[in-house]
Amino acid sequence: MKHIFKEGSSKRPTLLLLHGTGGTENDLLSLGGLIDPEANILSVRGEVSENGMPRFFKRLREGVFDIEDLKLQTKKLNEFLDQASSEYGFERDNVVAVGYSNGANIAASLLFHYENALKGAVLHHPMVPIRGLDLPDSSAINVLITAGDNDPICPPEETTDLESLLKGAGAEVEVFWHSQGHQLTQEEAYHAKEWYNKTY
Ligand code: MLT
Repeated sequence: MKHIFKEGSSKRPTLLLLHGTGGTENDLLSLGGLIDPEANILSVRGEVSENGMPRFFKRLREGVFDIEDLKLQTKKLNEFLDQASSEYGFERDNVVAVGYSNGANIAASLLFHYENALKGAVLHHPMVPIRGLDLPDSSAINVLITAGDNDPICPPEETTDLESLLKGAGAEVEVFWHSQGHQLTQEEAYHAKEWYNKTY
């Protein structure tokens, strides 16, 4: 997968940065640097193109995901993490995802499908990636969800459902709300940093 890797301190987690629809691997570099300036950074570009806009998996229309493709792309991303960890020498069991919108959805899908894919995740404006799954044991996982209570793309029930599903699987979940729609705000980014500092 097309990506950027920046080596940080070996003692810090690796931040897996996952952009929103139409973004690239450059979009979240400054957010990653704000959250943990000493972390390794692995920022990946989604391989699916929707009219030229990179995404991490196909959708049938806004808010309706192509579940077969979601599963396939989630598997590919998990395998890419295995390969990247041997190539760059970071600890595979110390990866924290930071995703926005479509990127947050594939990060949530990693949590839903694979027990050891991530150590934790910052999910900015996620939805429930897939319903009706038995989630793996998530008792070692910490998740921050940030959401807009007036987000037209991710309705608030998506946030509260995702929170309950992850908590039901044992994860520690915190939710941060704002009223700026689907925007990833500065306040939200600083809250993510604060959460990360107290968690890791
Ligand atoms: C998606 O994955 O489709 C998101 O929730 C919305 C978007 O990325 O535009």
